[in-house]
Amino acid sequence: MAQVTVVDHPLVQHKLTLMRDKACSTKQFRELLNEIGMLIGYEITRDLPLDSVDIETPIAPMKAPHLSGKKLVFAPILRAGMGFLDGMLSLVPSARVAHVGLYRDPKTLQSVEYYFKAPHDIEHRLVIVMDPMLATGNSVTAAVSRLKGHGAKRLRLMTLLSAPEGIKTFTESHPDVPVWTAAIESHLNDHGYIIPGLGDAGDRMFGTK
Ligand code: URA
Repeated sequence: MAQVTVVDHPLVQHKLTLMRDKACSTKQFRELLNEIGMLIGYEITRDLPLDSVDIETPIAPMKAPHLSGKKLVFAPILRAGMGFLDGMLSLVPSARVAHVGLYRDPKTLQSVEYYFKAPHDIEHRLVIVMDPMLATGNSVTAAVSRLKGHGAKRLRLMTLLSAPEGIKTFTESHPDVPVWTAAIESHLNDHGYIIPGLGDAGDRMFGTK
């Protein structure tokens, strides 16, 4: 079974409470998601491998730690996944970005792909897939399958809220992909929304409702 890590840092939990509140404005929601993205990103990158490089400080030469291997790929699932991207790029400015465009069919709740673009050498890179809401799990499951089909071998999933149903669907399909989330929620309602959740993350982020 894939590993699920709940990022229970007090700053993350506090910011999440502000975001859940229906009185939170579009501007605040976007800023908070960006900030939480950085904090979860800090945890998700905690074990990145380091090697050492020779540098000279103004005082002395030294061997200093340096990220090893190829640059990361951030793969936001459009559109809500974009909310994590700026925060993550502040942490790792040279990361590559793959875009996965999926929408959820409101009747079947199945995901439908409308856009896909990813670096050609993705098999050599750690891929961090981003979607704030792990609800049914259908979109992230499809996105990870698509990225694996494109060659991705090492992937991690970054979410904000996760429903138990989504964790089950996703981890059964992709037991090799560990998940980071800020909270595991109660359940999904009949429309596939997370309860208690925060509503539609894309609409709240972009002010489309
Ligand atoms: N997507 C959202 O934005 N919110 C939910 O609650 C479920 C899926």
